[in-house]
Amino acid sequence: MRVLASAPAKIILFGEHSVVYGKPAIAAAIDLRTYVKAEFNKNGRIRIEAKDIRTPGLTVSFSEDQIYFETDYGKAAEVLSYVREAINLVMKEADKQRGVTVSITSQIPVGAGLGSSAAVAVATIGAVSKLFGLELTPEEVAKLGHKVELLVQGASSGIDPTVSAIGGFLYYQKGSFERLPVIELPIVVGYTGSSGSTKELVAKVRKNYEEMPEIIEPILTSMGKLVEKAREVILAEYDREIKFKLLGTLMNINHGLLDALGVSTKSLSDLVYASREAGALGAKITGAGGGGCMYALAPRKQSEVATAIKIAGGMPMITKISREGLRIE
Ligand code: MEV
Repeated sequence: MRVLASAPAKIILFGEHSVVYGKPAIAAAIDLRTYVKAEFNKNGRIRIEAKDIRTPGLTVSFSEDQIYFETDYGKAAEVLSYVREAINLVMKEADKQRGVTVSITSQIPVGAGLGSSAAVAVATIGAVSKLFGLELTPEEVAKLGHKVELLVQGASSGIDPTVSAIGGFLYYQKGSFERLPVIELPIVVGYTGSSGSTKELVAKVRKNYEEMPEIIEPILTSMGKLVEKAREVILAEYDREIKFKLLGTLMNINHGLLDALGVSTKSLSDLVYASREAGALGAKITGAGGGGCMYALAPRKQSEVATAIKIAGGMPMITKISREGLRIE
C-alpha cells in the first residue's frame, strides 16, 4: 500500500510573531504544495527521500541520513527533523512501529517564510497516518503538526500547520481558528533569496520581550488590534476597492511594527518599498522575517509590482489563495 498526500504553503497576512504571544493572526493557504508519498518497507527502518528541497538558489537532494548537500546543509537537515518527528508522532498515535519509506517533493522554498516546514509536517502526518489506518480529521492533523513544530523549534503558535491542514483564509488565536470568507487577493510574493530561521527569529523577539516588556508588549498589542481591524474589514460589506485600501494601510502598519521588533532586513524592506512605489496599496513581511518573503497587495498593478521586486533584487511570485488544505491524492 502506498499513500500520497499534499499540503499547501501559507502566507501570514497579518500578525506573525505577535501570534506567538496569544494575539490573533490571519493567514491564507497559497497554491504551492509539498507532496509526500508513504509506504511500508521490509527493513523495519524509517527512510526519508527528498528531491527538490529548494533552499535559496539551489536544490538539495538527500536520502536517509546521507545528505547530498550542494548547499545549505542546515536547512536540509531541518526539513529532515520535521519529517522524523511527524512519523514518530503518528506511530505513537497508532501505537505501532513499522518500517516506513517517505518520499518528498516540494514546490515550496525552504526558509522563505512560506511555511515549508509546516507543509512537510502536515503532508507527512496525512500520508503516514492514512498508511497506518488512522482516520485523522484536518484539525487533528493540525494539532499533531503543531506538536512537531514545538519539538523541532521549541516555540510555535501553531498557525502554520493549522492553515496548511485546513486551507483557505483563517483567523487564528491560541490553537483555535475561524474560517474567514476567501477573498481573491491580488497579491505578489517577493522572495529575497535568503532564508531566515523561524526558531532564531522567535527567540530574538522573546529575548527583547524579556529584556524590555514595557516596550515590546505595546507593539504586540497594537499588532493584535490591527488583526482585529483586518478581520472586520474582511467580513464587512464594503466594496473591494475600499477593502483593499484599508487592508493595504493595515499591512503597511504591520510591516512597521515587525521592523520595530527587529525581524526585517534591508532586502525585505527594499522589496517592500519598491512594491509600494510601483503602486501596491500595502506591502509587508510575511512569516518570521530575517530574509524570506514579503507580499504586496496590488490590485491591477501585479505585473508592475512583480517587475519592481525583480529590479530591487527579489524573486516575484504571482500566486493564488488555495481553498484546499491537506489533500490525500
Ligand atoms: C512563522 O510563519 C510565524 C511566526 O509567528 C511563528 C509562529 O507563529 O509559530 C513567526
